[in-house]
Amino acid sequence: MSTTRVFTSLAACLHLASVAGAAGFSTDAATERRIDELLAKMTLEEKVGQLNQYSSVFDLTGPPPSDGRAAQIYDQIRQGLVGSMLNVNGAEATRRAQELAMESRLGIPLIIGYDVIHGYKTIFPIPLGEAASWDPEAAERSARVAAVEAAASGIHWTFAPMVDVARDARWGRIMEGAGEDPYLGAQMAAARVRGFQGSDLAAVDTIAACAKHYAAYGFAEAGRDYNTVDISEQTLRNVVLPPFRAAVDAGVATLMNSFNELGGIPATGSHLLQRTILKGEWGFQGFVVSDWGSIGEMVAHGYTPDLAAAAEVALEAGSDMDMESRAYVDHLASLVESGAVEVTHVDEAVRRVLRVKFALGLFDDPYRYSDTSREKEMVLHASHLEAARDVARRSIVLLQNDGGLLPLARDAGTIAVIGPLAADKDSPIAGWRGQGEASSAVSLLEGIQAAAGDGAVVVHELGVPLATGERSFVRELTFETQDRSGIAAAVAAARDADVVVLAIGEEGFQTGEGRSQVDVGLKGLQLELLRAVAEVNANLVAVVMSGRPLVLTEVAERAPAILEAWHLGSQAGHAIADVLFGDYNPSGKLPVSFPRHVGQEPLYYNHKPTGRGEPAFGGMVFWSHYTDAPNTPLFPFGHGLSYTTFEYSNLRLGAGEMAMRDTLTVEVTLTNSGGRPGTEIVQLYVRDRFASYTRPVKELKGFRKVTLDPGESRVVSFALGSDDLAFYGADGGWSAEPGAFEVFVGGSSVELLKGEFTLR
Ligand code: NOJ
Repeated sequence: MSTTRVFTSLAACLHLASVAGAAGFSTDAATERRIDELLAKMTLEEKVGQLNQYSSVFDLTGPPPSDGRAAQIYDQIRQGLVGSMLNVNGAEATRRAQELAMESRLGIPLIIGYDVIHGYKTIFPIPLGEAASWDPEAAERSARVAAVEAAASGIHWTFAPMVDVARDARWGRIMEGAGEDPYLGAQMAAARVRGFQGSDLAAVDTIAACAKHYAAYGFAEAGRDYNTVDISEQTLRNVVLPPFRAAVDAGVATLMNSFNELGGIPATGSHLLQRTILKGEWGFQGFVVSDWGSIGEMVAHGYTPDLAAAAEVALEAGSDMDMESRAYVDHLASLVESGAVEVTHVDEAVRRVLRVKFALGLFDDPYRYSDTSREKEMVLHASHLEAARDVARRSIVLLQNDGGLLPLARDAGTIAVIGPLAADKDSPIAGWRGQGEASSAVSLLEGIQAAAGDGAVVVHELGVPLATGERSFVRELTFETQDRSGIAAAVAAARDADVVVLAIGEEGFQTGEGRSQVDVGLKGLQLELLRAVAEVNANLVAVVMSGRPLVLTEVAERAPAILEAWHLGSQAGHAIADVLFGDYNPSGKLPVSFPRHVGQEPLYYNHKPTGRGEPAFGGMVFWSHYTDAPNTPLFPFGHGLSYTTFEYSNLRLGAGEMAMRDTLTVEVTLTNSGGRPGTEIVQLYVRDRFASYTRPVKELKGFRKVTLDPGESRVVSFALGSDDLAFYGADGGWSAEPGAFEVFVGGSSVELLKGEFTLR
């Protein structure tokens, strides 16, 4: 048995982060001088134009459509009244849009933005799935590929990463982020920014990133999209903001604010968020774009009486660019002329927008990104598809594997691949699919067919349909199918098979914007199908595809093996088959808690203790619990199995005490105690036992991905700094408080070895 040592210094990581932070997205004196010169030449209307963003409502490659709105936008671009477009796509169309801007008096180039969320045309796992890899390097790679494809197609700027911490499975946009934890979220946020932006924004294969939605959008009451948010400043700073801060430190060029109000003030109009924290405390030099129409929506929020007042409030609060409210273009100039808005605020916002355009190199060559031959070469490049398959495999979580049903043998006999998602080539592409083509994914069935050996026969039955109605980004799905006609054939196939792979979960458009649900169970007749199939074949593997944590309570009772396969993108079927047949040993871990029942939501591991957290004396009811379900999740945050087993032993701390500004070494021995090589994500949590502001029962503070051969052991070492223990407290400042701490290390948020130390 060999023993080697891995040393991870959290403090070192933080140090690196803060060095990067010092850099952030920055500018230089020469650029600022060029901006000064430009500002001096610009009319007020042209300045306002730079702050105005429209969505493309026309195909720019063709002749101008007769539609009045399109003609007006063409004209406004030519007059320098549009600073940015979104949803213009492809090298040819983006070039055409830029040509219009070049006709304007000062020839200031457009910045062209697009939602490149989990791939441009080569589609990667949804961000929630990718976060399950706990592999920032993989997330960086996927963002890099997306940037290469998007940049070649003329896109300068992606509205990603979404870094909203999300604790509520009902919220449809949980699929777009990294889950419930601020630390993991921060690592993924920084990685994605690095991936999109590379080390040089001016390179033709990098694009500006946009951390969104600033802020607290994921805390919508009852998980209903766009709903009110009312959280303390401590929760805001300790939980919501860390991923944004990490993105800023990683150099993100832009942020997008959010639709929600936060404590009575719409985020778009929040001076605290945008001027005090972002541009003040964090020294952010890039720009903030509003979310779609969010400036105008301040009227509906009941915060401003009309669009002009909304423009005034938004600009003064630090929203630099107006996406599709037409509030700035229609009202800012007159607000400045009447003295309601200071021109210095307009100038500052324009300066920020121009900085990003300079950084992208658009003033040197406005057409540098719109390159039809590069577009042809790079989009869907074979190496991109290979990367998508690899990242997808890393994202799969083995939730359960009773009796070692998985991996399947290549000559497994007859494999019945059943279920509404089994042959679905569209759902894995999911929502926010960029230019990802409909039904272009490798389906699970195709993946299994390609991977199964000669000794296996693969049969397929749909069983039951899932959603009915139009599958589109903008329309509601319905799940009211009563079509049971395929169940009998599915049962017959299952009965005759050696093993059943049942593909269930969510349709690809079931999560995303505007897709909140009160129920996060399996929709339609899927449970009926599960019961019927489980009745006739005990060798049942459930492959769950979803964009959110689902209630899998009954699945866990009936299927010995469960793979959480999210919506994995272009190569989904191959990636899942790699795991099913053991060509790839799964190592994903949940970035979100999976509930037993939707009534537990919001459910998250890093909750606060209560005064009554333990069962009450003598079986009385007076403690914090439900009378009809346990408090605990079905599958906890950080959970994920492997085809091998790992043992944790010998947790030791460098000392029982730690001085302020010192570091404490935490070591554990990890052993691969099973029969295959495997990769484990070693997780480190802390708990501050008593503090002047109550602290969570556990907080993730570090993780390491460690690969071991059977029988191999390794000492995994973390250095915990007192900065890692700091929090934003009741006095409105960041500090670590002296006192007792617990430290936990293990393979999930519940299976942990525990140590203790005192901070002096
Ligand atoms: C609204 C969404 O909230 C945001 O995330 C997206 O980037 C914009 N629309 C632009 O499509």
